[in-house]
Amino acid sequence: MSERVRDDVVLRAAGVHRSFRMGRATIEVLRDLALTLRRGERVSVVGASGSGKTTMINVLGLLDRPQAGSVEVLGEDALAVRARRRNELRNTGIGFIFQFYHLIDELSALENVLLPAMIGTSTFAWPSRRRAAHGRASALLDQVGLADRRGHRPQELSGGERQRVAIARALMNDPAILFCDEPTGNLDPRTSGGVQDLLLEIGHRGRAMLLVTHDARFAGRCDRVLRLNEGRLVAVGGEAAPAAAAGGRA
Ligand SMILES: Nc1ncnc2c1ncn2[C@@H]1O[C@H](COP(=O)(O)OP(=O)(O)O)[C@@H](O)[C@H]1O
Ligand SMILES: [Mg+2]
Repeated sequence: MSERVRDDVVLRAAGVHRSFRMGRATIEVLRDLALTLRRGERVSVVGASGSGKTTMINVLGLLDRPQAGSVEVLGEDALAVRARRRNELRNTGIGFIFQFYHLIDELSALENVLLPAMIGTSTFAWPSRRRAAHGRASALLDQVGLADRRGHRPQELSGGERQRVAIARALMNDPAILFCDEPTGNLDPRTSGGVQDLLLEIGHRGRAMLLVTHDARFAGRCDRVLRLNEGRLVAVGGEAAPAAAAGGRA
């Protein structure tokens, strides 16, 4: 029987080039970068500081536009659609977790988690969705172990707790893709362990997770490890081969 296999690709990038002009010099950061992410897989990316990991996340996460290449999110050519549709794709399809949490200081933990739901909803539609959104935000805070911290503001939380709020926020719209840029880079080893376990557990539940980390052990706990090397992603273990630059598409 030729039952059609469900295409579980959530992100497909190819030929991505991103460079920056600095005065008269041009820094080539991403050079013909390619990546495919499927639902259920956790992929880590390692690479020297300045190798372009954050630039890569910004481009693949539709926060920044490359000079060339394609980025398909959930089967849609995200660089060809109008800005409004691209923003929608980002808000509903992609979640972000950053090293320094990027929470809003004036809002409580619960309100920070609610934000992604509010962003995608008009002021007219919000009253009817508010209740369900509050329920989901509360449930997510429970899930990350912060049931008793809903009313706390970021300054009233530890680093690990702030990152847990950021994780709950990233999951609010149930994104198919989760980008994590050095999510444990600002945490002590013990706190980091708990956040790692949480991310690894949620990262493969019906979504794809791309994790950038300096921590080799954390990277090694993912299903695939890639290295960003001279603007391209290569499978770790394969980059030492002389022809890897030509054949190392990830
Ligand atoms: N907006 C920008 N303007 C100019 N140069 C940039 C910009 N963003 C990043 N870069 C440069 O691109 C390179 C890669 O940076 P980044 O992606 O932050 O690396 P990583 O996250 O791997 O440390 C660095 O040399 C950095 O200085
Ligand atoms: Mg970075």
